[in-house]
Amino acid sequence: MLEPEQIVEDLIACLQPQVLAGKRVLVTAGPTFEAIDPVRGITNLSSGKMGFAIARAAREAGAQVTLVAGPVALPTPRGVTRLDVRSGRQMHAATLAEAQHADMFVATAAVADWRPAEAAAQKIKKDGSGRAPELRFEENPNILAAVAASERARSGALYCVGFAAESENLLAHAQAKRARKRVPLLVGNLGPATFGQDDNVLLLVRPGGVEEFPRASKLVLARQLVAAMAAHAQTPWLQSLAT
Ligand code: CTP
Repeated sequence: MLEPEQIVEDLIACLQPQVLAGKRVLVTAGPTFEAIDPVRGITNLSSGKMGFAIARAAREAGAQVTLVAGPVALPTPRGVTRLDVRSGRQMHAATLAEAQHADMFVATAAVADWRPAEAAAQKIKKDGSGRAPELRFEENPNILAAVAASERARSGALYCVGFAAESENLLAHAQAKRARKRVPLLVGNLGPATFGQDDNVLLLVRPGGVEEFPRASKLVLARQLVAAMAAHAQTPWLQSLAT
C-alpha cells in the first residue's frame, strides 16, 4: 500500500495543468565525481535539488521523464525513470543516448569542467618526500553543447534548456551563455546562493526577453519553469535562435 505522503504527492500531481502531456523530458542533475584513485576524487557542491524538482514538476505536468543523476542522496520523484551515473563522461554517454528519444532536455547538472587525465588503479601513497603528487587534468565533454548540436535539436524536434550558475553579473553572463550554447532558454541563478538550498531565484533568458521568477521553493520554481518551457516550445523558437 502507498504511504500517506505518496498519496498526497499523487493528488497534488493530479491537480497540476497537464502542459507536457505526451512529451518525453530528459533532465541531468547533481554534481559529477571525477576519480583520482579508487578512494579519492573531485566533485562540487551541487545538491541536485533543482534538477530533481524539475523532473518531478515535468512528471506532474504529464511528461514521461528520464533523470540522469550524478552522485546525490535524493529520493527519485514518483513515476520518473532514474539513471545513476558518476563521472562526467558517464553522464555524457547516458544523456546522449537518451536525447535521441527526448522532446525536451533540461541540463541542470553541475558537470565537472575537468577530470584527472588518468585515474590511478591503486590508492596513491605518500612517498615520504613531503611533495604532493602532480595531477594533470583533461576537459570533460560538454553535454549541453553536444545535445544542442545534435540533429534533433538543430531541426527543432528537441527543445533544450541550459542552466548557468554564476557568481556575479548574472544577466550579462546568462545572455551570453544562451547565445553561445544556441539554446532557446537559459536559466540563470547565483551559484553560491543556491547550492544546497531549498529555495532560489531564477532568471529566464529567451532570445526575445528576460523574466525573473522571484524567490520561492525549488519545487514552485520548477513548476513555473515547466509552464514557461511548455509555452515557449509551442512558439516558433527555432527561427529566433540566431538572435
Ligand atoms: N554543462 C554540461 N556539460 C558540461 C558543463 C556544463 O552539460 N561539461 C551544462 C550545465 O548543465 C548547464 C550549462 O552547461 O546547463 C552551463 O554550465 P556552465 O558550467 O555554467 O557553463 P560553461 O559554458 O562551462 O561556462 P563557464 O565558463 O561559466 O564555466
